[in-house]
Amino acid sequence: MKSVWYKNAIVYSLDVETFKDSDGDGIGDFRGLTHRLDYLAGLGVNCLWLLPFYPSPNRDNGYDVMNYYDVDPRLGTLGDFVEFMHQARDRGIRVLIDLVVNHTSIEHPWFQSARQDKNSKYRNYYVWSDDPQPNPDLIAFPTKEDSIWEYDEQAGASYLHHFYKEQPDLNIGNPKVQEEILRIMGFWLELGVSGFRIDAAHFLVKNVGIDGASSEDLILFLERMREFVTARRADAILLAEANVSPDQIPVYFDQGNRMHMLFNFLLNQQLFLALARQDANTLKDGLKTLPCIPHNAQWLNFVRHHDELTLDRLSDEQRQEIFAAFAPEEQMQIFGRGIRRRLPPMMQNDRHRIEMIYSLAFTLPGTPLLRYGDEIGMGDDLSLEGRESVRTPMQWSDDPNGGFSTASPDALVRPVISEGEYSYPHVNVSFEQRDPASFLNWMEHLIRTRRQCPEFGTGKWQMLETNEPAVFAHACKLDGATVLALHNLSDRPCTVTLEDIQQEHLMEVFGDNFSLVRYDQKYKPLDQSSNTISMNAYGYRWFRVSAMH
Ligand code: NOJ
Repeated sequence: MKSVWYKNAIVYSLDVETFKDSDGDGIGDFRGLTHRLDYLAGLGVNCLWLLPFYPSPNRDNGYDVMNYYDVDPRLGTLGDFVEFMHQARDRGIRVLIDLVVNHTSIEHPWFQSARQDKNSKYRNYYVWSDDPQPNPDLIAFPTKEDSIWEYDEQAGASYLHHFYKEQPDLNIGNPKVQEEILRIMGFWLELGVSGFRIDAAHFLVKNVGIDGASSEDLILFLERMREFVTARRADAILLAEANVSPDQIPVYFDQGNRMHMLFNFLLNQQLFLALARQDANTLKDGLKTLPCIPHNAQWLNFVRHHDELTLDRLSDEQRQEIFAAFAPEEQMQIFGRGIRRRLPPMMQNDRHRIEMIYSLAFTLPGTPLLRYGDEIGMGDDLSLEGRESVRTPMQWSDDPNGGFSTASPDALVRPVISEGEYSYPHVNVSFEQRDPASFLNWMEHLIRTRRQCPEFGTGKWQMLETNEPAVFAHACKLDGATVLALHNLSDRPCTVTLEDIQQEHLMEVFGDNFSLVRYDQKYKPLDQSSNTISMNAYGYRWFRVSAMH
């Protein structure tokens, strides 16, 4: 039987530097993370995605790598990494790591050599031009950079950089660069990782400024990566970050021979539009625009991640609807296209609504992704610069610094949220573990139930018609078993009529009926003589459907 573990994994992403500090220097590290593996295993997480942990000048939160074969000394050593991998494996937790090879740091020795010497063997590792074309549409950080080219005095030419100017793009058209990338992957696969998140995959396959290589040539590199990874480790996967239009999705999946997974940016944006409008049809439209994907491919569904909530695939009007609902102040927005807030503040900490949103994200066709702190309802810190607002340290307890570190507060890698509704005395793991009605305990329940319903990840799915525009209903079938989920996107209770579903065949397995914060809004038992189902405001209900004859 073919292993498709990634279709039903519970993926949890974290940045080692903000997770747990073990040595009191104010920076999270691998030893700290290793100590918290039991917490993650207890939560039900079985796949971690680690943000870049390589040596880096940290111009872009580690997405500017100086050495692909080591661990940033601030976070530990390779030895610590190996021990972490061993402990994770012992707990049945797989590890995906970020592979940032669209660009390096400007301080990478390859770039240093390339800029200093035209004859360096590394010169052609990068993309140079004497006559750079502006291409303003391709600037990834529009308010931070004004060009994708930077003239370099030492080199006497301009180099390509889609991101910050401190992140020169690698020349993927150069076979030597491709070899380097495979070597890097080979190294980490030997250390036991289960695959890679391919950073900026969309730019990786663009041939901007690259002479002699067509975009098609570069795309074929995705296949080489796949062949290589699979040859080295049959169950390892490639998860690509490619925020592209529906017609470009096949570039990444092709016939199932390129990427295993893609982040579902399209659905994420449509989800927020649907939430702003409290309208299930908007979500349905989003699902309808997703192309069919090969049987071995999978979407990774998320609510929020470590970047801005990008809304770049929507029209101006649609974006404004979302801004008006969830990020009305300019300081909550970023790059003119996104939101730099975590979910709870966007939803005014409405627990019912937040539960419904995660429940929905966990049932949509694909694999669910959580980001550290989601499970306790962490907030953001808008006083921090740019995307740092959503990258504050994990809140473990009400000890100083939220139990993240014993360092003095000004030595912390980033301040812990210490004031207001989302501050660590109010929102922390230790407190929530002791409270049966906490969001953390609810999340554990969600994860446990989702793992028992693999139909959502692997089954054949179908949207169901309801008489209620605010209720999204869908069913997923796998090997003769069916699960059904209903989500009320609106703040009004309602009653839904479902054609073709007989209540005598429904067993409720999860939903707001079980949430300890809804003790006063319990649903009546299902009425077998009717085909209507009640839904609370922001209600959500999952059913297992027994065979109907
Ligand atoms: C995408 C990452 O998610 C983002 O954080 C980073 O800034 C860019 N890629 C550049 O590596």
